[in-house]
Amino acid sequence: MNIFEALRLSHDTQRGLATRILETQGDVPERRTLYNEFKHELAAHAAAEERCFYAPLIAFDSTMAQARHGMAEHHEMDELVDDLNKMEFSSPGWIVQFRKLRDKVFHHLEDEEHAIFQLAGKVLPEGDKTSLARDYEEEFATFRLGEMPLNSAEG
Ligand SMILES: [Fe+2]
Ligand SMILES: [Fe+2]
Repeated sequence: MNIFEALRLSHDTQRGLATRILETQGDVPERRTLYNEFKHELAAHAAAEERCFYAPLIAFDSTMAQARHGMAEHHEMDELVDDLNKMEFSSPGWIVQFRKLRDKVFHHLEDEEHAIFQLAGKVLPEGDKTSLARDYEEEFATFRLGEMPLNSAEG
């Protein structure tokens, strides 16, 4: 597996969860469970991706700006998640706000897969593409485990 394939696995998970969340109505257990899954997936992916994909890309002139842009978008998504966390699941506005987050996330994933991956493919040495995938998977697993108890304790 290379770093691009590893990142895509989580992208597909995010797309699947977001699509299922949009089908929920009101404060149902499914919405709570799926949203919880979604935000933990998003947070663990962004953290591991910044460390094992964007950080190495900062080192190359041709990918520095795109890497910074990607990380800025992670920050924007975090803010949308924070806003959503403050809303009641039963509020009619919840799904409106979630759709904003979904649009932002989908745009970001498209941007990564269609622009950043191509540029990164040209600058990263072949061997790094597989070693970064392993690093990413380790980091992702650690963040994903760490995320769970922390956030569920917050409610
Ligand atoms: Fe990503
Ligand atoms: Fe990302």
